[in-house]
Amino acid sequence: MNNKESFYLTTPIYYVNAAPHLGTAYSTVAADALARFMRITGKDTWFLTGLDEHGQKIAQTAEAEGKTPQAWVDEVAPQFKAAWEALDIHYDDFIRTTEPRHIRGVQKFFETLHDKGFIYKDVYEGYYCVSEETFFSDEQLAEFAEARAAEGLPSTQDDGSPLCPDCHRPLSFVQEENLFFKLSAFEQPLLDYYEANPDFIQPAIRRNEVISFVKSGLRDLSVSRASFDWGVPIPFAPGHVSYVWVDALINYITAVGYGSNDPADQEMFARRWPAQLHLIGKDIIRFHCVIWPAMLMAADLALPHKVFAHGFLLTKGEKMSKSKGNAMDPLALARTFSVDGYRYYFLSDVQFGSDGSVSLERMLQVYNADLANSWGNLCSRALNMMAKYLDATTPNLWEKTVKRLTQERGNPLAALVEGGLQSRYAAAFAREDYSAALAVVMELVDAANLYIEQSAPWKLAKAAAAEAEEARGRGEDPVEAEEKAKAPTQADHLAFVLYNVLESMRIAALLFAPVMPETSAEVWRRLGLDALFSVDDQAAACVWGGLPAGLATTVGTPLFMRLSEDDI
Ligand code: MSP
Repeated sequence: MNNKESFYLTTPIYYVNAAPHLGTAYSTVAADALARFMRITGKDTWFLTGLDEHGQKIAQTAEAEGKTPQAWVDEVAPQFKAAWEALDIHYDDFIRTTEPRHIRGVQKFFETLHDKGFIYKDVYEGYYCVSEETFFSDEQLAEFAEARAAEGLPSTQDDGSPLCPDCHRPLSFVQEENLFFKLSAFEQPLLDYYEANPDFIQPAIRRNEVISFVKSGLRDLSVSRASFDWGVPIPFAPGHVSYVWVDALINYITAVGYGSNDPADQEMFARRWPAQLHLIGKDIIRFHCVIWPAMLMAADLALPHKVFAHGFLLTKGEKMSKSKGNAMDPLALARTFSVDGYRYYFLSDVQFGSDGSVSLERMLQVYNADLANSWGNLCSRALNMMAKYLDATTPNLWEKTVKRLTQERGNPLAALVEGGLQSRYAAAFAREDYSAALAVVMELVDAANLYIEQSAPWKLAKAAAAEAEEARGRGEDPVEAEEKAKAPTQADHLAFVLYNVLESMRIAALLFAPVMPETSAEVWRRLGLDALFSVDDQAAACVWGGLPAGLATTVGTPLFMRLSEDDI
């Protein structure tokens, strides 16, 4: 029996019409960092990601490639897994919507909604965007046309047929008998739910957007397609497959055992569902905050606790996308800036929840300033001084010496840590504010670099050597001399300063670990801590003074090599 609190979080499942790109990597890296944070804080974390493999878009892509849809998705799926591995993503489960466990669950879900009277047959007549896999109503098209006209831009093709309000590609006209879900019946229950659960949709701007969308009236949703067969067959409607979005949303429950008769799966479902968090991009908020909760209400299942929508990564002011040719390849960037450098840049420099401009130039700047010059440099300076002055062994100071030095010289680093550093960091993580969480850690790194400058260990080392020389001249043992004088020696002061710097490094490594797991593990090794405890299982480790004495430290190569314009 696991008594730890469950934390189940998900990313969107990605379309396999193309290889992973910066946008999909963004959601996944963010979810991975949060999952690592939750694991470190002792939650029983379950992190799900996966692939959305059905639908017309995939079928068309496969056809254009001269392959069957199954052969195509089987070819692309490993590219996603390899990319996530390369970016140090540690998911607990990876679901593909073509797996039997998912298909079985989708079918059960449809049957449940059908049995409860929420599904009926009707003729759908209207526009559909294959690229967005979305239906558009006449009202939505009229609204788009009006907005475009105001900008003097066209909303139709030359022949008058409309363009997609989202991606501006031509729409297809669909006229077929479909199954419909009574979404309109959930207008008031959804509004009541948003009101009763103010944190359900984050950030607030998205919540307001969803509320006004629902208030403007919900129409029933076409949930099956009969004109092609690349989807989950609906058991009670031969010739129909599930609408790809409905199929995709259900992954969040089929991955944790919904639809299985196996008692172990049922137990998992009871433990994991409802999810704590669906992390998504802002473009898919209506699917997650309107359609999905309504589907769950209809099936009498609990609703997820929170949906957080991040913004878009923009290059030169435009959404980065493959079709616009302005996409940056995440794996190439990770090769240049290191995996941790990649993860750090996107999570620190783009305010999570807002759109953010990204560029190679800015990435270089942030990488050099924060990682090469501040964090990396702190580690190499401190470890070099340890080797030079303290025989590469963490010092063993008497408690009373530490007390006295703290009184006399002050300890700004301990004061910073004890003044609520970790709680500010944890609070930032809890609201998915990665930039703020990382800024808190950088405060400690900057303070430690400043502390080195101000306390000048090289001067203390000189003074300590002179002091020892003097004591020897008097024929005294310096330790006894200290005892006699009851005053800390220069050597104590040096050890005190370097201990404080190393202890700050230990805490910074720990707090950076969710975002930069590889470098944190490396700093851990260089501090000689890896034999004692893992950087990942340190619930209480931010308590100042946790670095034991007598550990062997190592210098190593620079954690982050400085890069120049020529390297990018
Ligand atoms: N298959 C659906 C999701 C189904 S979830 C039940 C889908 N897939 S997607 O591959 O097109 O996109 C997945 C995610 O990538 C979305 O959350 C989207 O916001 C994100 N991004 C795609 N391009 C992006 C940027 N340029 N910037 C940030 N994220 C963007 O939608």
